[in-house]
Amino acid sequence: MSKRLYIETLGCAMNEKDSENIIAELTTKEHYETTDNIKNADLIIINTCSVREKPVSKLFSQLGVINKQKKSTAQIGVCGCTASHLGADIIKAAPYVDFVLGARNVSKITKAIYQKGFVDTDISYDETTYMFDDIGANSYKKKINISIGCDKSCTYCIVPNTRGTEISIPKELILDEISKAVDSKVVEVLLLGQNVNNYGKTFSNKLIKSSFVELLRDISKIPKLKRIRFASPHPLHMDDEFIKEFATNDKICKNIHIPLQSGSTKVLKDMRRGYSKEWFVDRCASIKKAVPHSRISTDIIVGFPTETQEDFAETIDVINRVKFDQIFNFKYSPRPNTVAKDMPSIVPDGVASSRLEQVIALHKAHLDEKMPQNVGKELEVLFEQQKEKNIYVGFSDNGYQIQVKSDKNILGNISKVRITNFHRTYLEANIK
Ligand code: 5AD
Ligand code: SF4
Repeated sequence: MSKRLYIETLGCAMNEKDSENIIAELTTKEHYETTDNIKNADLIIINTCSVREKPVSKLFSQLGVINKQKKSTAQIGVCGCTASHLGADIIKAAPYVDFVLGARNVSKITKAIYQKGFVDTDISYDETTYMFDDIGANSYKKKINISIGCDKSCTYCIVPNTRGTEISIPKELILDEISKAVDSKVVEVLLLGQNVNNYGKTFSNKLIKSSFVELLRDISKIPKLKRIRFASPHPLHMDDEFIKEFATNDKICKNIHIPLQSGSTKVLKDMRRGYSKEWFVDRCASIKKAVPHSRISTDIIVGFPTETQEDFAETIDVINRVKFDQIFNFKYSPRPNTVAKDMPSIVPDGVASSRLEQVIALHKAHLDEKMPQNVGKELEVLFEQQKEKNIYVGFSDNGYQIQVKSDKNILGNISKVRITNFHRTYLEANIK
């Protein structure tokens, strides 16, 4: 008889992909099926994020609630980035937790469920980090890891401690995974890595050579594959060759996430980001020039310890110049084992909160200016979800969420649409 797995995923696309892999291993090798009901589950897994303090502090209260709700025989596992940095301390604080698997160790899931107290948080390189079972593609999109870990040392970031140093996955394995995926319904891939455009810098085998641009070219030769997305590129590695490939390769979707973090060159230096304000603005301008309908999203941290009012004004200046299509804003959160944690802060919490509000308000004003301009335009959309009986939702190549009415089932279709109405976060359209 099959057992039931309840899994909750916090954090980024990388964690979502890890959860998909955990599900694949447990359903194909251990006869689990997934459930949304914690009370029925035989195994409960929290796949954690530790990039900011909030989700970490919530973990223990959440575990307490789960422990009260669960069946007496159910196991609890904590995986992901918080598992990496707290390790066995999680079991010390919450002894009812059965196992702990760090972000780079989730491939050990089929071992962990048989050993009470199993803890593995090793971040050294290990081939098994990407040797996973495949669930069998069940939708039109698939996430594909192209590298794991991070080779940077941004002073605010805990990720190199939780996911380890960067290793690129051999190109043949990536091409093979995509070729298999497109044999079922998959038409779009999302290539994942901490800094995707640093792909090829380090392979486990020194004889393997490939750059990110070469990888993109080879992936785009797979005939049945229609669309390629990737997240996230690092501004530092965004050279002209990369921008040219982005602009001219028809299969690459024209929506790009370029994490700014700060608009001040001085703060960028304190963050050890490796680029200046001018470089960032120039890269965005080059992308817009090469692909006018492209959309750019970004990450911004406000309240970094050394951020003065003038530094923050530089961030506002970049937002005004680039007019991002989406901004993920964060208030700086000190993280263990990072350089910035020991920098004395000149930013009171109230000031950081007010800066966050200013970023949000400015971005909203930009969206209110931009979204109406889409009405009447044509876009190409992959439909992937049915919202109501005759309402279908999809994404345009440049990343807009689009809703259309259709009496026919259009799931999986890539169709041209004309925009008829706008909202702040999505557009309505008619199929042409
Ligand atoms: N505090 C706030 N935001 C952070 N990020 C990473 N570390 C921190 C931190 N210590 C943000 C960055 C990154 C995104 C994934 O999370 O903007 O791009
Ligand atoms: Fe963290 Fe910087 Fe690496 Fe991104 S590039 S994961 S922000 S250290």
